[in-house]
Amino acid sequence: MKLENVRLRKFRISDISKLYELANNEKVSENLRDAFPNPYTLKDAEAFIKNCLKQDPVLTFAIEYSEEYVGNIGLIPGQDVYRGSAEIGYFIGEQYWNKGITTKAVRILTDYGFSELDIVRIHTGIFEYNTASMKVLENCGYSKDCIFKKSVFKKGRIWDEHRYSIINPKYE
Ligand SMILES: CC(C)(COP(=O)(O)OP(=O)(O)OC[C@H]1O[C@@H](n2cnc3c(N)ncnc32)[C@H](O)[C@@H]1OP(=O)(O)O)[C@@H](O)C(=O)NCCC(=O)NCCS
Repeated sequence: MKLENVRLRKFRISDISKLYELANNEKVSENLRDAFPNPYTLKDAEAFIKNCLKQDPVLTFAIEYSEEYVGNIGLIPGQDVYRGSAEIGYFIGEQYWNKGITTKAVRILTDYGFSELDIVRIHTGIFEYNTASMKVLENCGYSKDCIFKKSVFKKGRIWDEHRYSIINPKYE
């Protein structure tokens, strides 16, 4: 799946060492849930990629920029009454920030989720200090639904979480 110089593809075992390099960075992990550890080890990278290789259908992808692996993006399907929804999550390595890469990756995965997986609603939550991620989603047509006040513990403090979503035009 491709949009100009950004492509989403399945992971490869050979991505493990680069994932470790990209992910082992507090400036990345401070924007994500604690399930994304810091420090991030080679073993974490190996376990993550091996898990992705078992997915059917594939829901977590490597982001390539000009044919170089630069980050991850994926969808987590909802369950029970939320089975029409999915949560989107993503990160790219710090050296690749502000080149428009994630905006293109989110566009690709949102279109794929709607057209191929028939997802009704894609959503996520962004910590209040992560303005870049809010900008990415707004530029991709997502809307801010609400703010979950004081809902997040991170960096030794309590923060608000800004909730974003987009609805599949087929279901509007
Ligand atoms: C958030 C993140 C995914 C953005 O990726 P990216 O590839 O740099 O994003 P893009 O270049 O496509 O777009 C970034 C947008 O934010 C804007 N931006 C960047 N830093 C900003 C800041 N401090 N304040 C306001 N806007 C900012 C850019 O100008 C750009 O908007 P524009 O296209 O309207 O000019 C990346 O910084 C990252 O991986 N961070 C760590 C993990 C993370 O936050 N994941 C998301 C969790 S919700």
